[in-house]
Amino acid sequence: MTTILQINSARAFARRPVDAARRRTHRKLQQSNPGATLVKRNLLADNLSHLDDATLGAFFTPADQRTPEQAAINAKSEALINELQAADSVVIVALLYNFGISSQLKTYFDWIARAGISFRYTATGPEGLVKGKKVFVVSARGGKYVGTPN
Ligand SMILES: Cc1cc2nc3c(=O)[nH]c(=O)nc-3n(C[C@H](O)[C@H](O)[C@H](O)COP(=O)(O)O)c2cc1C
Repeated sequence: MTTILQINSARAFARRPVDAARRRTHRKLQQSNPGATLVKRNLLADNLSHLDDATLGAFFTPADQRTPEQAAINAKSEALINELQAADSVVIVALLYNFGISSQLKTYFDWIARAGISFRYTATGPEGLVKGKKVFVVSARGGKYVGTPN
């Protein structure tokens, strides 16, 4: 059974009646992959903390020395990595916010980029440990750039 992970990283501007990019992506994925398991990760609801002292402290404290709070942060981070590892394909809905990705999406990357878990350092440089996935980025923006078609 194919598993597709849809990562929703921002909410469309409130003037819209629906969150078009996220909903359209979900509908299209369902239509074109009827047998697949579709897992939705809603980064708006997750409210992951930025890499502040508490979060970084939790990530870098050895497992046997963690406080309960640090253990909970690590459990959440590892659950996100396991969810990613379990997916065959990943669809990232990346709305353009102020010429970049949303802070929620950047924070998600901070929570899943863990040395020794999702990547490791080797003698020839870093090696990703999340392998064999197809990743699609659905990018939506409100503006139009000079020289691009309508
Ligand atoms: C805070 C904020 C910043 C945005 N910044 C940009 C931008 O820099 N460039 C742009 O083209 N659109 C920008 N947009 C528009 C969003 O990219 C657009 O609303 C979103 O892609 C719409 O997706 P939808 O089809 O789900 O409504 C911004 C929207 C918001 C709310």
